[in-house]
Amino acid sequence: MSAVPKFALHTYGCQMNVRDSAVLARRLAAAGYAEAASEEEADIVIVNSCSVREKAEEKALGKLGMLCAGRRERPGLVVGLTGCMANRLGDGIFAKIPGLSFSFGPRAGARLPELVARALTGETGIWAPDPPAAPEGGPAGAGPAPEGAADAPVQSFVTILYGCDRRCSYCIVPSVRGHEESRDPRAIVEEVRAEVRRGSPDICLLGQSVMRYGRRAFAWPEDIPSPMGFTEPLPRLLEFVAREASGAKRLRFTSGHPLGVTPELVRAMREIPAVCAHLHLPMQSGSDRILADMRRGYDSARYLEAVRLLREGVPDVAITTDVIVGYPGETEEDFEATRRVMEEAGFDNAFVFKYSPRPGTPSSFLEDDVPDAEKRRRDQVLLADQDARGLRLNKAWIGRTVEVLAEGPSLRNPSRWSGRTEQNKIVAFEPAPGVRRGAFVRVLVEDAHPQTLIGRVCN
Ligand code: 5AD
Ligand code: SF4
Repeated sequence: MSAVPKFALHTYGCQMNVRDSAVLARRLAAAGYAEAASEEEADIVIVNSCSVREKAEEKALGKLGMLCAGRRERPGLVVGLTGCMANRLGDGIFAKIPGLSFSFGPRAGARLPELVARALTGETGIWAPDPPAAPEGGPAGAGPAPEGAADAPVQSFVTILYGCDRRCSYCIVPSVRGHEESRDPRAIVEEVRAEVRRGSPDICLLGQSVMRYGRRAFAWPEDIPSPMGFTEPLPRLLEFVAREASGAKRLRFTSGHPLGVTPELVRAMREIPAVCAHLHLPMQSGSDRILADMRRGYDSARYLEAVRLLREGVPDVAITTDVIVGYPGETEEDFEATRRVMEEAGFDNAFVFKYSPRPGTPSSFLEDDVPDAEKRRRDQVLLADQDARGLRLNKAWIGRTVEVLAEGPSLRNPSRWSGRTEQNKIVAFEPAPGVRRGAFVRVLVEDAHPQTLIGRVCN
């Protein structure tokens, strides 16, 4: 083992996990450990897991099994688990993965240095559940972020709401992430400022159901006024963050819910310059029967009403979505309804998921009766629809000049650079003088693909 033990984090799942992993890395660095250049040379590997679909869990379990088995060549390797699967399985994980050093809940990150120290002495099977309530600053309280790292992401995530109190029939999140708990606005601003100092001008505020921010067991601090006259917590928060962390040139929030699209929120999106004209608004299905069974709290008409409010109130808004295919009992007719509503909503992008029953959720007691081949077919159909729609919508941008936050050489074609517009559209362009990572550049859009715009820098 090297003199200073080195760590690596392996992250599955959503942006919440990406953000938690970044915080865990900072905690370990603060405790004196070094980040390994690659997982192979790490002495400590932590897997941050997701439970949302079975496949995600299988991947994490496979990874853990491989790491623990690999100890024959790497004796003393510390292997830890966190994330949603850690909470779902509790100390039951140690029977599944013999030799696992420790496992801890996503809200128990403050204990990580202690867990690592114990594991380095050879202890295994340590289970650290979430504390009953995350102390403020809790998972984020890892000290200030280091400044201006060259490889800092240009977009960072800051959690504003832990947990979820909705009870969608298919979703494991409420049982693995706990009750909703809104963070204090001042702690959020501190964290946003720290992310901006690290080099991220694009900040995405996160919550499993972000529009529930401040809706449960929360009172907006009376000494923080709203000059724009907002009364709802999320618009107030957006206004406060934009004012107090002005280096955050772009502010987003995700994931949305149509019932949270209030006139005030739409006004906040339109009138606060930093707030981006983009919303991820999971629809899940376009069939009213399936939506009711899913307990989503809206029907397709109500969903489309939210879309209408956004389009009327926020110029050039991009709306993206999540859809599940093959939910129990989903007929061809239900599926066709989903296709129609997706077209009517005019989504800029869509993520399609094949239904996967999750243990203990209400829908897991229903028969998973849509055959896998049919789920795959529906998935393909929706993706083809989305490609055609994405291409059509993207073509409408040809000839316009957009502001792009440059990210770096594009993965597909490294001679080109890529970045994003405030609509979160990916733009590829030839590098030009003055173009550097983290800079805002003006790009004339000359061509369009279903998922990308192609343009020329015109600064
Ligand atoms: N099966 C398939 N997809 C699911 N999602 C959540 N739970 C399930 C499940 N059991 C999808 C939803 C959600 C996204 C993050 O994952 O579409 O918006
Ligand atoms: Fe799951 Fe529904 Fe919560 Fe989203 S809002 S995380 S789908 S329970």
